[in-house]
Amino acid sequence: MCGIVGYVGTERDAIDVLLDGLSGLEYRGYDSAGVALASDPLDVYKREGELSALESAVPVKDLRGPACGIGHTRWSTHGPPSDRNAHPHADESNRVAVVHNGIIENYQSLRDELSADGVAFTSETDTEVVPHLIGRALEEGRSPEAAFRAAIDRIEGSYAIAAVFADSDAIYATRQASPLVLGVGDDGYHLASDAPAFVEYTDRVVYLEDGQFARLEPDAIAVTDANGTPVETTVETLEWDAEDAGKSGYDHYMLKEIHEQPTALRQCLRGRVDELSGIVTLEELDSVGSVSDVQLVACGTSYHAAVFGASLLCDRGVRATAMLASEYSSERVPVDSSTLVVGVTQSGETADTMRALREANKAGGETVAVTNTVGSSAARECDHALYIRAGPEIGVAATKTFASQQVALTLLACHLGGEATHELVRTLRDVPDQIQTILDTSRATSIAQTYVDSDAFFFIGRGSQYPVALEGALKLKEISYEHAEGFAAGELKHGPLALVTEDTPVFAMVTGDDEQARKTVSNVKEVNARGAPVVAVTDGQTNVDRYADHVLEVPPSTEIGTAITANVQLQLLAYWIAHELGRSIDKPRHLAKSVTVE
Ligand code: F6R
Repeated sequence: MCGIVGYVGTERDAIDVLLDGLSGLEYRGYDSAGVALASDPLDVYKREGELSALESAVPVKDLRGPACGIGHTRWSTHGPPSDRNAHPHADESNRVAVVHNGIIENYQSLRDELSADGVAFTSETDTEVVPHLIGRALEEGRSPEAAFRAAIDRIEGSYAIAAVFADSDAIYATRQASPLVLGVGDDGYHLASDAPAFVEYTDRVVYLEDGQFARLEPDAIAVTDANGTPVETTVETLEWDAEDAGKSGYDHYMLKEIHEQPTALRQCLRGRVDELSGIVTLEELDSVGSVSDVQLVACGTSYHAAVFGASLLCDRGVRATAMLASEYSSERVPVDSSTLVVGVTQSGETADTMRALREANKAGGETVAVTNTVGSSAARECDHALYIRAGPEIGVAATKTFASQQVALTLLACHLGGEATHELVRTLRDVPDQIQTILDTSRATSIAQTYVDSDAFFFIGRGSQYPVALEGALKLKEISYEHAEGFAAGELKHGPLALVTEDTPVFAMVTGDDEQARKTVSNVKEVNARGAPVVAVTDGQTNVDRYADHVLEVPPSTEIGTAITANVQLQLLAYWIAHELGRSIDKPRHLAKSVTVE
């Protein structure tokens, strides 16, 4: 986890650019934040807590001048949140400061070695070995760059690391299995774990590859391989702008991102579906070989999208299963060259998902990343990448990326299992407008006020609405900290019904008028008979409203369409309950956006 930033330039004060950059990355962790400026001696400021704590502690006016620095926002792995464990970490003589995202697996043996050499550690982090290794190499007379490389040579694990030196106006950086992107500005160079950190200054980027090193100076960047040989880089242009990365007047990123779903879905569909023929074109998957079965691997919200995708693939005659990436093992589930392993991951960096994909790849499977993040590890390491094109998602709770994953996986199912029917084409065409209708008319706010004080919240659904029930519960629990569970509607009577009381509202997804829907209505009656309040999320095609205390409406559509729109009602419900409770909606406690540890 964690986010790192760096800036070196000729015009701006580094402190301003770094604090701006950290605010764009706080979603990656908010246990502490810190900056180091390459003055002589180094200026290092760090504070436990959110970025605002650092901002109050930094004497910005006194720090104007240096045009080179690095910063960090932390999600703790080694050592609890504290000032001491906050990055940047420096060597004993304060000649070098380092920020790091990832995990140094051999840090204990390095720490023992350095301690035996007399180094006094000031933190409990794995990172602190790095500045001390660099410091030792400097003492041996090496240049900053050589000392940096010598230290990196000694560490094992995952890392994006940047360092500044007291007597140099360059930033040295490298990466291994953690994201790092360079920004090419008009008056300087940036680096960050993710481009929203500097998109306000530039949209031109260079994605650093694993094992590459970068030296950023005020008027040049140089990228080299592990041996120091220069590497030719490509400058790419981001499609995001600073406005995309801001809150645009909404109180929270989450609410903004919920409202961005119509646009996100149109972007996802653009150029991919021919309305007349129903032909779905995913050029990025044209070279996929013959597929006997599909294994979808993912975590959290993305796993719920994977469950949805697997069921669509099965409906189209393609054998498919969704698996939690953290439980996936290619030894237990057979993989061969006709197995397509699809990693569903908005960040493209989730460690559990990356491990599963790497394992599948090793076992001979063909891999596809369904991701939002161009240049992410998943996109680069998989054989193919299908981008969901949702735009930056800053709120920790995934919203628009889930809807975009649902749409992208629908397209994937058509690509592998035959073209889209006209009905499906219409569904996909109409769904952005239908979401807009829900956003304009939803009664989720008043339902949230009615039920905010409940003991627990249950969500039920069948078929394509089953993953929606799971997702509704996850969304609510992660941002409201209230107890919420999602169940397959048919499972309720096999145990969970015992939990149902008059203080546990049940949110039932009842859409369409087929047998599935009618069975769910029966489950609603069972709940109703036991005194629990029922909120039906429905398109009005059954008589569920007779047994429901409240209704959240979705426009009539196909099973796929209502599974996308029903979720929007649940997102709004979760948001407004969390709002009523005064929770930290964009940055819920204990969570972070991109989980790069297993
Ligand atoms: C929940 C949420 C998480 C992520 C999960 C996987 O709102 O965001 O459950 O879905 O950590 O993340 P990605 O999709 O980046 O692999």
